[in-house]
Amino acid sequence: MSAVPFAFLVHPRASVSDDLARVWSPLGRVPEGLADRAVRRLPLRPFTMARVHLPDVTPDPVGRVVLVPFGARHMLEAPHAARDRVGAAVDLAARRGAGIVGLGALTATVTSGGSTLAGRTDIGVTNGNAYTAAIVEDQLRSLLAARPDRARRVAVVGATGSVGTTLVRLLARDRAVEHLTLVARAGGRLGALAGEVCRRVPTTISTDLRDVRACDVVVLLTAAADALLRSEHLAPGAVVLDATQPRNTSPDLLVERPDVTVVDGGVVAVPGLRLRGGDIGQPPGSTYGCFAETALLALSGHTGHFSLGVPTLDQVDHVRAIARRFAGLGFRAAPPTTFGRPLDGHLADRLMTPAATTSTRVADAAPSPASDATEPATAGPVPSGASLVTAGTSR
Ligand SMILES: NC(=O)c1ccc[n+]([C@@H]2O[C@H](COP(=O)([O-])OP(=O)(O)OC[C@H]3O[C@@H](n4cnc5c(N)ncnc54)[C@H](OP(=O)(O)O)[C@@H]3O)[C@@H](O)[C@H]2O)c1
Repeated sequence: MSAVPFAFLVHPRASVSDDLARVWSPLGRVPEGLADRAVRRLPLRPFTMARVHLPDVTPDPVGRVVLVPFGARHMLEAPHAARDRVGAAVDLAARRGAGIVGLGALTATVTSGGSTLAGRTDIGVTNGNAYTAAIVEDQLRSLLAARPDRARRVAVVGATGSVGTTLVRLLARDRAVEHLTLVARAGGRLGALAGEVCRRVPTTISTDLRDVRACDVVVLLTAAADALLRSEHLAPGAVVLDATQPRNTSPDLLVERPDVTVVDGGVVAVPGLRLRGGDIGQPPGSTYGCFAETALLALSGHTGHFSLGVPTLDQVDHVRAIARRFAGLGFRAAPPTTFGRPLDGHLADRLMTPAATTSTRVADAAPSPASDATEPATAGPVPSGASLVTAGTSR
């Protein structure tokens, strides 16, 4: 099948004026309060902010980045208006000839992982979360392999979301961790997910972020506009793998807790990738997992929808297979960074050793059957106000 053009939707994140400056630098001088109010109140239309180039494939653009002019806070506070704006951006992508559109950052959250767009027949939709979960799993396994002296107790915060649920199911299928702590605000969905996976990995659930203090590695997959995870939530020497957009960690965390390492999650290396017209917060040659999934589907000539709601593990395996097909272009976890800067120190050195990367590849090559991970087991909802509830510990 031949490649189809794609579109990828983005929106201003924590600071509206900083992100608008990525499109046109003078907009960075607009006071944040004014930029925020303008974007919230004015009926601004989506527009193409950048063309996507992969010169190793073709000199012509392979896709476009469409900006939805609505900030992260607006998305969460006014989800109906946000859905309308996302719909208008999908209309634009279809009119401009995209065969598939990927949902960046909170454009996925406000459309329930793209489910509200499932009726569209003029364009395929993907939330990009199958490949994002795959890349986050790869990064997590490299981190665990780089610290063989530490226990493999892992917290997934935002565990019941689209990426979170997929990651938890992957980790259970592959028995990649010793213990899982699943965290979100709504206890019922946590109980159901823990019930699925606890036969393969001992699992506890919590609606209280302080309970991640029992964990060695914290994977952050929440959908919030600002920093959530703070220094008091973390164990000594903890590693945080933060794949959120906008970021739900603050660089201040590293000042308050120099013993803690924060690694940027969901970042994919595609060395030839270039955006012309604006940037979306990654340097040339790097991009987000959800963008990479959209590009991979487009390169493979995929038609119709792909990841909607919570992706299946079959979809994860499928998109991993496409990534292997296009491995000549990159499509692997990017070298580790922290808040966009190269990670240095002992952990970074160990992450670069072949042992860390080999362990990921070996496990990927021989996954356990997916069906085992979804066997039902009993795990009740979190009682209101509960902190930590044991959901199951049988192997
Ligand atoms: N790096 C990448 O390439 C990439 C790709 C895709 C997505 N992302 C990012 O990954 C994050 C998750 O995306 P998604 O599509 O999976 O989102 P989602 O489906 O909306 O899930 C969000 C999850 O976070 C939980 N949550 C929200 N606020 C919380 C809070 N204050 N405390 C604890 N839990 C909270 C939600 O459960 P409750 O509502 O029950 O709390 C849910 O489990 C987003 O930030 C998104 O932008 C990054």
